[in-house]
Amino acid sequence: MLNIAVRAARTAGDIIVRKMEQVTDIPVKEKTLNDFVTEVDRKAEEIIIDTILKAYPQHSILAEESGRRGEGEFQWIIDPLDGTTNYLHGFPQFAISIALKHGDHLEQALVYDPLRQEQFTATRGGGAYLNNRRIRVSKRKDLNGALLGTGFPYGDSEKLETFIRTFRAIFPKTAGIRRVGAASLDLAYVACGRLDGFWEFGLKPWDMAAGALLIQEAGGIVTSMNNDTSFLKSGDVLTANSKLHEELAKIISSAIDNV
Ligand code: IPD
Ligand code: CA
Ligand code: CA
Repeated sequence: MLNIAVRAARTAGDIIVRKMEQVTDIPVKEKTLNDFVTEVDRKAEEIIIDTILKAYPQHSILAEESGRRGEGEFQWIIDPLDGTTNYLHGFPQFAISIALKHGDHLEQALVYDPLRQEQFTATRGGGAYLNNRRIRVSKRKDLNGALLGTGFPYGDSEKLETFIRTFRAIFPKTAGIRRVGAASLDLAYVACGRLDGFWEFGLKPWDMAAGALLIQEAGGIVTSMNNDTSFLKSGDVLTANSKLHEELAKIISSAIDNV
């Protein structure tokens, strides 16, 4: 199943990279304020879904551009181009994210960065890999010296206020915070220890599903902001190794409570 995801992502990745040269000519429609859908997203998604359904016609799909398809208990969760705003600006940080869920369990994960040709993969119970090399979350024991990732919630002023409170509480305790703009890659970077942790409010399942399994299989903790496991539903995600996760969860909960 992972091989199918890899094949789908590689084909889509080739198109995404080839089209990047013509990015200024690509017709762009405004979906919500900062959320763009391009022809490239749609084409990449079509290719990924076709490849998957050809191999597994009974499986169902949850994809960003085309939504839900089918009822099968195996569900593929797809973001054909995560980091669209970066892509449209020629900012080289975007990825293809594909996960497979069976019932309530994430089973397979792939985040593919087509520019660097970095392929992050995981299978439940089988560990996480970057280009076939085993990866692990960082071993850092506290926030002092930590590099964290985050994302800014847009289109929801209440969430933005909550985010800013958490940012204010966390930022001074760290070595730095990055907002790079492709959540699936941010999570993959936590899985391989490039980032020590990550939090973001208001994500969608296709931004997180693959990255979450990568981190779990790399030995990290992934929860919702209130520490439960409902992140795919709530859209709010907090992740790090177990020590940092505990520290971050405390800071976030007091930042949110002390309104
Ligand atoms: C976005 C990116 C971004 C995150 C946004 C997502 P898209 O996905 O992952 O980092 O902050 O919430 O919507 O729209 O580029 O696929
Ligand atoms: Ca996305
Ligand atoms: Ca997308």
